[in-house]
Amino acid sequence: MGPTGLLVYISVLLAFFSATQAYNVTRLLGQYPEFGLLNQYINDSGLAGEINRRGTVTILAVDNSTLSSISGRSKDSIKAIVSTHVILDYYDEKKLMNIKNDSTTLTTLFQSSGIANDNQGHILAYNAGGGHFYFGSAVKGASLNAQFVKTVVTQPYNISVLQVSQPIIPPGIDAQSPWPAPGARTAFPPKKHDGSSDTPAAESPSNDDDSAAADAPSDDVASSPSPSSAPATAPGPADKSAAADEDSGSDSSSSSSLTRVKMGLVGTVMALASLLVAL
Ligand SMILES: *[C@@H]1O[C@H](CO)[C@@H](O)[C@H](O)[C@H]1NC(C)=O
Ligand SMILES: *[C@@H]1O[C@H](CO)[C@@H](O)[C@H](O)[C@H]1NC(C)=O
Ligand SMILES: *[C@@H]1O[C@H](CO)[C@@H](O)[C@H](O)[C@H]1NC(C)=O
Ligand SMILES: *[C@@H]1O[C@H](CO)[C@@H](O)[C@H](O)[C@H]1NC(C)=O
Ligand SMILES: *[C@@H]1O[C@H](CO)[C@@H](O)[C@H](O)[C@H]1NC(C)=O
Repeated sequence: MGPTGLLVYISVLLAFFSATQAYNVTRLLGQYPEFGLLNQYINDSGLAGEINRRGTVTILAVDNSTLSSISGRSKDSIKAIVSTHVILDYYDEKKLMNIKNDSTTLTTLFQSSGIANDNQGHILAYNAGGGHFYFGSAVKGASLNAQFVKTVVTQPYNISVLQVSQPIIPPGIDAQSPWPAPGARTAFPPKKHDGSSDTPAAESPSNDDDSAAADAPSDDVASSPSPSSAPATAPGPADKSAAADEDSGSDSSSSSSLTRVKMGLVGTVMALASLLVAL
């Protein structure tokens, strides 16, 4: 292959990769030093590649000073928390304002780990009106105390980064099984149905949130719309609802990655056509 052929070959590769990766989350967050710790956690936990592959995400970003409150936790716990901050859908302020019936359940990257119990892999978004939004774990009894601060950056409809006031920590994650080894994610881990507790008291919503939540909706207000509007919290076989949500989550993401693969193929075909012209 001559130098021209090599150049064309390289441009084929470039066309393919630029079409398949919509963004690089590490590079994107790297432009905002105040989220450096979050970026470090995303990279160090190996979540960056998965976030990039998703193609359509919203990251609820917590700044250095606030996120440092979780720095003493285990690696698995930090990974679970960080992945709870990655919504598998695109949300900007406009779309948050369209949330009907005040609150809506969103699937996060933690759900796709296969180790999230109950509603740990989901969060609720609450539209309080007037541009005020609150987020919190969808686990029953958790409070919606992560308040929307501002839009950091949006690249519609690939990735959106929204700053929130504090980390969302799903109750019970410290009792979680370890994360499966990369590539080993095939089935849900066995779950106990003998009533043994998945949610130790250690992580129950604590009172130290009360001061921060002074101007946030009270737990009553925040959680009252959710039981009716969030079917996933309805009593029922936890495994089934979790599995169903996982399915729907991966359906939409696999369709978006399918789109990207198609676009990659189009890029490749076009590059091959230019190769023929060049020869
Ligand atoms: C979103 O990603 C696609 C490729 O997957 C790209 O063509 C498009 O320009 C991206 N949009 C933005 C706003 O970056
Ligand atoms: C994403 O960006 C980071 C920082 O610029 C870089 O180190 C990494 O290689 C990039 N990843 C991909 C898949 O391009
Ligand atoms: C945030 O934390 C990261 C990692 O610890 C650090 O590299 C960065 O400089 C910090 N940014 C600010 C604004 O303090
Ligand atoms: C990302 O993590 C890898 C190890 O997993 C490390 O070698 C690399 O320096 C990290 N990059 C950044 C930008 O933190
Ligand atoms: C709002 O909730 C009520 C009762 O759950 C339901 O009947 C109605 O269809 C919902 N409206 C929208 C727009 O989702």
